[in-house]
Amino acid sequence: MKIGTVEIPNRFVLAPLAGISCTAFRMLCKENGAGLIYTQMIDADIISEKTSEKVKQFLNIQDAERPVTVQLISSEKNVLVKAIQAVEEFADIIDLNVGCIEEDYLQKGCGAALLKDLPKLESIVRAMVKATEKPITAKIRIGWDNQHINGVTVGQLLENAGVSALSIHGRTVDQGYAGKVNWTIMKQVKEKLHILVIANGDVKTYRDGLALLQKTGCDLVMIGRESQHCPWVFHEKPVDIKQQILRFIELYEQYENRQSPVEVADHVFWMLRDFKTSEDTKKVHLIQTIPRIKRYVNRLQQEQ
Ligand SMILES: Cc1cc2nc3c(=O)[nH]c(=O)nc-3n(C[C@H](O)[C@H](O)[C@H](O)COP(=O)(O)O)c2cc1C
Repeated sequence: MKIGTVEIPNRFVLAPLAGISCTAFRMLCKENGAGLIYTQMIDADIISEKTSEKVKQFLNIQDAERPVTVQLISSEKNVLVKAIQAVEEFADIIDLNVGCIEEDYLQKGCGAALLKDLPKLESIVRAMVKATEKPITAKIRIGWDNQHINGVTVGQLLENAGVSALSIHGRTVDQGYAGKVNWTIMKQVKEKLHILVIANGDVKTYRDGLALLQKTGCDLVMIGRESQHCPWVFHEKPVDIKQQILRFIELYEQYENRQSPVEVADHVFWMLRDFKTSEDTKKVHLIQTIPRIKRYVNRLQQEQ
């Protein structure tokens, strides 16, 4: 399977997750079998000549996690074209966020607000495609609300504008993260398009992922929130949660620029969700150095 010229080794994709997708987390998902890794969204407005090196350092993409999609958010095509020039050196694929529902972004006409302004969306995407040799993709929702479901129209517009693949979160903006994911619309989008379509929403296990692929006919499946707790959701082999956490810390110590105990503690706490222990795992947030967090994890006793 290829997005543009980029070979994708399997059908499972790590979703963009702002505030979660640090380098070590992305690498752990890759080690557990994710075939395509998205970075969290980067606000194109903050990328200027001065800051482009900072963005590179912040994303800190390692060869071991490739292929990697760098996601951008903005509603200004000139800003996006500039941002593309700043990230294309280290991005394999560049994605436009057309699904974000944060009020600040919606008010600026960014993210899912573009689902309501199709001429603007089209002109932005055409400019992005023209600006680079790298494949451009987009991530959308199925529509604004139940009365305005336009996933198929938006998908066709994006395909005509030259995107190489599309990911679709099967909810409306109005739904936020609640209610059911609409598999029918994802299926219709896949049926109408010729490019690769990535289905997204509520996948909790590897098997859920296979079922979503089967039910929608989509080419790939993207996993978001579950990967925060289980970066091993990309396969179904049994895992030792403690070993996974220790591996995360090892990757973090080796690759992360920030070396922040707070960030490590957050990830450890998230990954301990399914680890049965009588300890109050919230206490990990009180630990102030990474070596001590490691010792804490090593000492945790699993209950049967
Ligand atoms: C904490 C958090 C951060 C997210 N950050 C992004 C982001 O940066 N870009 C984006 O397109 N979607 C973002 N999303 C949406 C997810 O990529 C995904 O579309 C959504 O969570 C549905 O998939 P899931 O049910 O597998 O989580 C975020 C979601 C969450 C919960």
